[in-house]
Amino acid sequence: MTDMSRQPNEAALRHRTIRHFKPVPIDVKTLENAARATASSEYLQSFTLIHVTDPNLRHAIAAISGSQVLQQENGELFIFVVDTNRDIRIARRALAKQAAATSKRHADTRVTYAKTTGSTKSTNAFRDAIRNIPRETILADALSNAPMHTFTNWNAFLAGVFDATLAAQNMLGYAEANGLGGCYLGSILNDPRQLINLLHLPKYTFPILGLILGVPADEPKQKPRLPSLLTVGENGYPSVNEKEWNEAVDTYDRTVAAYYDSRDPNPRAETFSALVVRHLTADQHHRDDIGTILREQGFELE
Ligand SMILES: Cc1cc2nc3c(=O)[nH]c(=O)nc-3n(C[C@H](O)[C@H](O)[C@H](O)COP(=O)(O)O)c2cc1C
Repeated sequence: MTDMSRQPNEAALRHRTIRHFKPVPIDVKTLENAARATASSEYLQSFTLIHVTDPNLRHAIAAISGSQVLQQENGELFIFVVDTNRDIRIARRALAKQAAATSKRHADTRVTYAKTTGSTKSTNAFRDAIRNIPRETILADALSNAPMHTFTNWNAFLAGVFDATLAAQNMLGYAEANGLGGCYLGSILNDPRQLINLLHLPKYTFPILGLILGVPADEPKQKPRLPSLLTVGENGYPSVNEKEWNEAVDTYDRTVAAYYDSRDPNPRAETFSALVVRHLTADQHHRDDIGTILREQGFELE
């Protein structure tokens, strides 16, 4: 078995969200490069990364998010955007170029025919010449104004979500391995329309996740995770009998309650089961129109 114990700082095993930062500059370019180097679905790189440096913009995003994390001035804020706009633009440009080359070839064929026969009429010889134009070129011509369904459907949107979130995690992981810390901000989705306006996001894009990174000013305890008995399967969904399952949840409830009880600051009395039930009753009406907004952005998600 390979030795997995030499990972620098064991950063991946020691993750905890950091919500307070020191006023110390960080190497933003290297972190952006870590995000850009991430694996990408079909190599399409369907995401865009926005570094927020304008204090007014940051205040506006803080108001949307409502998060305490953005009430501080420290930490660098990034917004990860699902983006198939760029690939649509690249495809349209390439197809238009091919179409232009095709019509030039049509014209050249016509000129050659006219020169050799003294006629510009369409004849069998001209039709034969057209037939020799490669099929892909004619197809490209036909496609140049085609709808870009493969860049706007569920599959494309999910690819963008994978690319954006994996890039965000690569950035956070790299930061953590270098002694920095950060906090994801799903709360930017509290008002996606406003965020889309603030960031001037074009069609076929959607801001999916915020991430703030910096030098940690606090050292929170690590939050205990559900036991692998419940979350990791071998060759299928974890198979646990009901008694073991109930015992595992009860034990985890006690572990989480002990974690919250000992947490400083913000101790509270809560089990994991209570947290899950609380989530059931949380008011998420402000997120109800995300589907509508995605469709406004051009994604064909029914
Ligand atoms: C997609 C995503 C969105 C999140 N959004 C927020 C957020 O808006 N505000 C916040 O304070 N933490 C946010 N978090 C951090 C989680 O609250 C945190 O990861 C979780 O409580 C587990 O704690 P830990 O990361 O310290 O282990 C988010 C995490 C993820 C993965």
